[in-house]
Amino acid sequence: MQMNHEEYKKTLHYKNAAGIQATCADCHVPKDVFPKFYAKIYAVKDVYHEIMGTVDTKEKFEARRWHMANVVWDKMRATDSRECRSCHEYTNMEISAQDRLAGKKHTRAAAEGEACIDCHAGIVHTEPLEPMEPLEPM
Ligand code: HEC
Ligand code: HEC
Ligand code: HEC
Repeated sequence: MQMNHEEYKKTLHYKNAAGIQATCADCHVPKDVFPKFYAKIYAVKDVYHEIMGTVDTKEKFEARRWHMANVVWDKMRATDSRECRSCHEYTNMEISAQDRLAGKKHTRAAAEGEACIDCHAGIVHTEPLEPMEPLEPM
């Protein structure tokens, strides 16, 4: 957890010109009543449970990281990156103020309903690589 924190502190989601911060919970915990209820029932094996329980050393963290990142990616795809969209929406983007590539991608993504996470993995944490060998069970 400490490692995720150090990485996060180097990103724009921690500090930026506008002074707006995205906290851990902003990206990882659903906000409205229904999703919270939903998350409680269905997300029993969420990353947080793993962290609070068994992932207490750097080695264990690294060993589980690919798996944990995939849990988060799957969830963010399933919710159409709902937590990202609590701050960002395609419809609120000033496309002309973005660089050309971003503008082009977002115009298409909005039309096709693509989730942020399809293109923006690794924005605040180091994006883990798929391990060569399968995980040992904990
Ligand atoms: C609490 C609000 C908030 C949430 C939640 C949030 N962001 Fe951001 N995001 C920001 C702010 C503020 C900036 C910095 C804007 C600036 O200074 O240009 C930013 C910047 C970005 C950038 C450009 C800078 C960079 O680091 O690449 C991307 C891409 C981005 N966000 C994607 C996402 C995605 C994907 C998610 C969900 C996983 C997300 N954001 C969740 C507020 C948020
Ligand atoms: C089809 C791929 C794609 C999707 C889907 C996508 N983006 Fe992007 N986005 C890009 C690319 C490419 C860039 C430019 C390079 C970069 O910053 O990674 C970019 C840049 C950004 C930037 C920086 C823009 C700038 O010029 O300052 C923000 C903020 C951002 N994306 C947020 C989001 C959010 C939030 C979502 C979901 C609502 C999203 N993006 C969905 C591809 C995508
Ligand atoms: C802007 C959104 C955002 C913020 C803020 C954020 N995370 Fe994440 N987190 C993600 C995404 C997206 C992933 C999936 C892996 C990736 O793409 O980096 C992730 C993955 C993780 C994982 C799985 C292991 C890994 O490294 O991939 C843990 C644990 C985690 N986050 C904890 C935290 C903690 C603790 C904080 C606060 C210090 C935090 N996150 C802040 C978006 C965020």
